[in-house]
Amino acid sequence: MSKSEMNISMPPVPQTTGRRLEGKRAIVTGAGSRAAGIGNGRAAAILFALEGACVLLVDRDLSAVEETQALILEQKPEAIVDIFEGDVTDEESCAAMVRIPVDAWGGLDVLHNNVGVGMSVGSVVDSDLEQWDMVQDVNVRSMVLTCRHAVPAMIRSDGGSIINVSSIAALRPRGMTAYSTSKGAVIALSQAMAADHAREAIRVNCIAPGPMYTPMVYAGGMNESLREARRDASMLGIEGTGWDIGLAATFLASDESRYITGVVLPVDGGVLLRGPAR
Ligand SMILES: NC(=O)c1ccc[n+]([C@@H]2O[C@H](COP(=O)([O-])OP(=O)(O)OC[C@H]3O[C@@H](n4cnc5c(N)ncnc54)[C@H](O)[C@@H]3O)[C@@H](O)[C@H]2O)c1
Repeated sequence: MSKSEMNISMPPVPQTTGRRLEGKRAIVTGAGSRAAGIGNGRAAAILFALEGACVLLVDRDLSAVEETQALILEQKPEAIVDIFEGDVTDEESCAAMVRIPVDAWGGLDVLHNNVGVGMSVGSVVDSDLEQWDMVQDVNVRSMVLTCRHAVPAMIRSDGGSIINVSSIAALRPRGMTAYSTSKGAVIALSQAMAADHAREAIRVNCIAPGPMYTPMVYAGGMNESLREARRDASMLGIEGTGWDIGLAATFLASDESRYITGVVLPVDGGVLLRGPAR
């Protein structure tokens, strides 16, 4: 990806304090972006590092995650960031991924489960069942696998914060039933885990992004009128970017949210508040 390509679609990096995640050891899955620009996972990874965390960037696409690492080091040359090329649908990969911060940095405090795929238009009647299974596998089972290995490491680190990325498609479904079902399961999984692991000092929360303007969306084709309609769908009438998700994740990763677990945080400009005009 060339620098000029990046600049076209790269909203400016938000202000950071450099200290909100000081001392934290974090993993971000899907820390690359599928195309030029700032996706949700890339934004969280950059902000975690800028706020002082040691961050392991995980992605099955090595070049995408190398780009994220370069963006971090451009902003903060002294940042501690490592890369792991792995597939979170594979349990061995998940186990190996968790061993890296434990061996290199002495433990694990934050797991940001960002990996998710969207392509699944259709109802239960016309959904392709192979695709249905793939969507559940990538969006839900992967989180079970990462957490199976991250939770014991967090317990040994005296607790931690897990953030799972859902979608408002779980709360207000529209024609992508496999995706909505998977993202609803992410919410239930997060709440069940919040209950299971609270007394081990592990908080588990969920972010439900709305229609963010990220590579996931515009790489699949986007025109100005559709972009405007998406802006207009929110109460605020503005467009969300990957940074909005990254900022919410930073809050949930930090000790600022120490009394918050089991919540679903929509980050959608108020899209969920919209109903029929009459
Ligand atoms: N952009 C939106 O409007 C929107 C809305 C609601 C929810 N979301 C959610 O946000 C999350 C992703 O956002 P993004 O902007 O980072 O997406 P993205 O597609 O740009 O990046 C995701 C990264 O995950 C990697 N990946 C995919 N499958 C993987 C696997 N099995 N193992 C390891 N890496 C894998 C990809 O290579 C890619 O680099 C998803 O959970 C998605 O459902 C996005």
